[in-house]
Amino acid sequence: MADTTERHPFLHGLSKHRGAPPTAVVIFGASGDLTARKLIPAIYNLAYDGLLPADFYLIGFGRKPIPDAEFRKMAADAVQEFSRRELKQDVWDRLASRTIYVSGGYDEKPAYDRLAVRIAGLEKEIGQQLQTLFYVSTPPTVFAPIIQNLGASGLAARYLRQAHQSKVIIEKPFGRDLASAQALNRELTTVFDEEQVYRIDHYLGKETVQDLLVQRFANAIFEPLWNRNFVEAVQITVAEQVGVEARAGYYEQSGCLRDMIQNHTMQLLALTAMEPPVSMDAQSVRDEKVKVLKAIQPLRLDGPDPDVARAQYTDGVLGGKPVPGYLQEEGVAASSSTETFAALRLSINNWRWHGVPFYLRSGKRMARRVSEIAIRFRRAPGSLFAESERFLIAANTLAFQIQPDEGMSMILNAKIPGLETRTQPVKMNFKYSTTFGSNTPEAYERLVLDAMIGDGTLFIRGDETERSWQLCTPILEHWKAQGRTGLDTYAAGSWGPPSSADLLAAHGDHWREP
Ligand code: BG6
Repeated sequence: MADTTERHPFLHGLSKHRGAPPTAVVIFGASGDLTARKLIPAIYNLAYDGLLPADFYLIGFGRKPIPDAEFRKMAADAVQEFSRRELKQDVWDRLASRTIYVSGGYDEKPAYDRLAVRIAGLEKEIGQQLQTLFYVSTPPTVFAPIIQNLGASGLAARYLRQAHQSKVIIEKPFGRDLASAQALNRELTTVFDEEQVYRIDHYLGKETVQDLLVQRFANAIFEPLWNRNFVEAVQITVAEQVGVEARAGYYEQSGCLRDMIQNHTMQLLALTAMEPPVSMDAQSVRDEKVKVLKAIQPLRLDGPDPDVARAQYTDGVLGGKPVPGYLQEEGVAASSSTETFAALRLSINNWRWHGVPFYLRSGKRMARRVSEIAIRFRRAPGSLFAESERFLIAANTLAFQIQPDEGMSMILNAKIPGLETRTQPVKMNFKYSTTFGSNTPEAYERLVLDAMIGDGTLFIRGDETERSWQLCTPILEHWKAQGRTGLDTYAAGSWGPPSSADLLAAHGDHWREP
């Protein structure tokens, strides 16, 4: 077998230790937005850090006929525009020399046969077999034909030294309700085994989301308090300042619950609330996530105290500039009932969390871009320092700032210096950028590397996504039946609608301002 590491010294690195085999990553949807913004920059940055295997190929696949040279140029432009680090010519040249393009319709079997021939040609050239990682980054309408043709062409069933040689990464949206997610899972598992399938949720690749697990399980001080005896409430906020941008076509069919809650915020909840896994392997972590998702109780969808709120943004001011309302955005129907904000109150019925509300909210055009998980602890008992109104004793709150401004903070009560005993809540802050610098890898870098080495811990298992859809589907059906009735509004640039505040006020609580 040829030792190709000699020829590509830049490709040495973690792969030596973690053992990514020679790999061809095939991107379906190669001329799409995600490919340019995230996937090609991620692969480039892995090359930059020497984390790709010595024999690595990038194969773009798409409907448009594009010569190899033009695809390389598109890829170089993508790196220049979107990579977190600038294009380093020698790194790029080596990657570009192994970047090719295959064109064909997603439902045309001969195109997949051509792809198989191309891969076989590369294998012959290097004198060894390649793992093939198929990255499905297309609109969901062509997920099924791609999967079927990977099966029909034999590409899905390649084996390497008894391990799976073919893997598939599936981008979101993974279904649009329970039935379609189940159908997609059936489609996938007809052709692939579950361990070949990597359902992506890019939030799981974010550094701070991974750090949540480290904080929880590598520090002895948190876990003893991480339960109903000490925690009063948990709030998870994923707020964005952007509106629908140029994505109204997609967003009108989706809305906030499908776009953000069913996947990203549910994942944050699962990692926050799950039991400690027996190990960090994919099976153990995902078993725990499924267990906690199963313990979430069905939601009350209407009546005087519903567990859900939804709203659409109206015009407002953001960053000092006026911005239009959702209904005025290009491509949005004048009578659209698509929610751009959703909030949920969830109860987890298990020994750890019984009686602790978990509040989730996400929205576009909110006051600030911020994602955080805030754990509020019960107040200190007794009233040692409460004999005067001047004393403000706050509940201790531990907040994980997922983005931007990645970090962790803890609200504690401290004595104000002086001869009187007066107290004040203070914030203890840890910032990633201060301690570790700010050039952290993008989520997609971690996820592509993990899929290459066969680690599914940060990907979603079939049963997990179905459980999440099982919770969200009745809400979607209820909202669909209601149309615009009960759809609340909030001004762009605010923290959301009154119904979101009511969700908490009904239980004597309020959203914390992140
Ligand atoms: C995507 C959604 O999954 O996540 C987008 O489709 C959203 O609507 C994006 O803007 C947010 O991701 P991030 O990493 O910018 O928080």
